[in-house]
Amino acid sequence: MKTLTVALPGQAYDIIIGQRVLAQVGERVKKALPNAQRLLVVTDDNVLPLYYSQVEHSLRQAGFQVGVHTVPAGESSKCVQQLNRLWERMMEFGLTRTDGVVALGGGVVGDLAGFAASTILRGVDLVQIPTTLLSQVDSSVGGKTAINLRAGKNLAGTFYQPKLVLMDWEVLTTLSEATFADGMAEVIKYGCIRDQEFFNFLCAHPSRGEIMGDIESVLYTCCNIKQQVVAADERDTGIRMVLNFGHTLGHAFEKAGHYTIWTHGQAVAAGMVAAMELGFALKVTPRDGSLERLIALLEGFRLPTFIDCDRETMVGAVGLDKKGAGEDISVILLRRMGEALPYKMKKETVLQVLETACRR
Ligand code: GLY
Repeated sequence: MKTLTVALPGQAYDIIIGQRVLAQVGERVKKALPNAQRLLVVTDDNVLPLYYSQVEHSLRQAGFQVGVHTVPAGESSKCVQQLNRLWERMMEFGLTRTDGVVALGGGVVGDLAGFAASTILRGVDLVQIPTTLLSQVDSSVGGKTAINLRAGKNLAGTFYQPKLVLMDWEVLTTLSEATFADGMAEVIKYGCIRDQEFFNFLCAHPSRGEIMGDIESVLYTCCNIKQQVVAADERDTGIRMVLNFGHTLGHAFEKAGHYTIWTHGQAVAAGMVAAMELGFALKVTPRDGSLERLIALLEGFRLPTFIDCDRETMVGAVGLDKKGAGEDISVILLRRMGEALPYKMKKETVLQVLETACRR
């Protein structure tokens, strides 16, 4: 069992990483939310039959009154209609400002429940229990909450830190190969942006079995990088942008596939390759063989390394990217493997270079 603290001034919280953490949910939540009496668990219809009864039992044993709200599994639940249903359910359940919300599920559940918790009664406490690799290494940590709008993903949201994040790595065993690989794209991203040694480790362990053999330290390394970056820049105005390595193009790829052809991790995988090619073209990233190693690693997890995308989609994605400001955009490039930095440049320059650098 490992514990990490996200060292945000005035809102520090722990991330607990280990095996059979689900059995300890009650006692852990009691410590983090000592005044809460009622807890509304938000989950989806895939996770509900797998893990809800264990979580409910543990929370009841610790003395909480527990309710549950289930949304359909999938990205389409991150919408204003589901948000509205959840707000109404929170009131019907009788949540007060000293009570709490427990997000039990992947990124969709975490983002939706987090948004609702941050806004209902002007904010009730939130506990994240992420059940996918992607949500364990990324969305459950750092306080971003969101729903999607017709104009794009995550366009309405808040920064709202949880009071506790509980990660039980045993839950990863029920993920499909594709969902596990989806999370691996973000795991690999951490090596690229901050930790060459970790990248080397991943290259030497390019399979699910090998990663699961060391999963506790893989989760710890990723969450440690994320908490350091978030603690330095909670509001995403500077260094936190490096977490979006591969995401500017990734978002374009997701959008080009109408959010159904490519998953987030698949889009980020191809986006990281494109970002390295952009870095070569802009003479920021050295050609030292790292791209070839990245491609081999992604292929080991059956992640795509190239996705075709028309100019119109790219224009839309670069223009809409939340890192954009006016004519400029910050793109995340690698100065070398293990070191990413945001580079501010004209959107038009990025588009021109992308068009030539990232087409095959
Ligand atoms: N997923 C990127 C971030 O939390 O900033």
